[in-house]
Amino acid sequence: MAQFVSFLLFVVSLIAFAPLCFSAKHNNGYLFPEFYDHSCPKAQQIVKSVVAKAVAKEARMAASLLRLHFHDCFVKGCDASLLLDSSGSIISEKRSNPNRNSARGFEVLDDIKSALEKECPHTVSCADILALAARDSTVLTGGPSWEVPLGRRDSRGASLSGSNNNIPAPNNTFQTILTKFKLQGLDIVDLVALSGSHTIGNSRCTSFRQRLYNQSGNGQPDLTLDQSYAAQLRTRCPRSGGDQTLFFLDFVSTTKFDNSYFKLLLASKGLLNSDQVLVTKSKESLDLVKKYAAHNELFLPQFAKSMVKMGNISPLTGSRGEIRKNCRKINS
Ligand code: HEM
Repeated sequence: MAQFVSFLLFVVSLIAFAPLCFSAKHNNGYLFPEFYDHSCPKAQQIVKSVVAKAVAKEARMAASLLRLHFHDCFVKGCDASLLLDSSGSIISEKRSNPNRNSARGFEVLDDIKSALEKECPHTVSCADILALAARDSTVLTGGPSWEVPLGRRDSRGASLSGSNNNIPAPNNTFQTILTKFKLQGLDIVDLVALSGSHTIGNSRCTSFRQRLYNQSGNGQPDLTLDQSYAAQLRTRCPRSGGDQTLFFLDFVSTTKFDNSYFKLLLASKGLLNSDQVLVTKSKESLDLVKKYAAHNELFLPQFAKSMVKMGNISPLTGSRGEIRKNCRKINS
């Protein structure tokens, strides 16, 4: 009888836990925050501690890691395609215009991945690491927190052309930038809120030089840029040379995740052309900028919401893609 009862208990527990096992492996296209709760309970803790160490060493790293998730998600979805190095038939996205001499933080992802491979081999995807590192970077710099839906898998390829074409360029028009967001399923609210990432991090002189000297081909600077700020920028970003010289995107609170970026836009002190057009080219986006500039408490939760939305762009789930052992190369 006792044997029969324990057999019965065994069968009942099988039935009870089957959906869990099933959902973990075959998440039916959906991501959910508890994805690693059983397979790698320490995953989130490990990501956070490596990111915290890297950001303590260099504050800018938070910005660099946040940006990587964006540059990953806009190309074939959030699948860590950005992290692949060139090899065999793979041409790395690291060579694209938006990424070359600019995207950084890859060593931190290597460190996270090797810590995770030690703790639970072949379990946590590089795409999920990017999503978690972006959230942790935001929190560490004073921004909002959110639960990160998980269960993305890693691509077995990269797309250099996707990286060149899908990621907006700083000199794209407002309409082009909005179109590029819409193609990813994101709207104008997401565009304005996510641009708020430029509250932290740096830009190179080459990304905004045109505004200082020859905005529209007539040898005149961009008149939507505060002219004394422009003069100040010219001292370190000359007509030629100094391409890689770094400038804060938000010079008021350089490493703090807050709404001062939006306040600067209203003062005509957005660094990139793509920042300033948010107030000069569309009434709808101007109104959003005004709202976030006036209310940090409205900006932060919208940022979190839009990050989750961006993180949901075309993930590979179930048996599509793979869990890379090394984020830089596909499994052999
Ligand atoms: C709306 C269109 C966007 C454009 C045109 C754009 C463009 C740029 C450019 C040109 C830089 C400077 C790169 C350099 O000179 O090396 C930059 C930096 C940065 N971007 Fe964006 N960006 C956009 C949206 C976003 C979004 C959606 C995010 C994140 C969700 C983001 C996060 C960042 C961060 C954090 C940095 C600083 C990176 C660092 O210091 O390493 N950007 N962006």
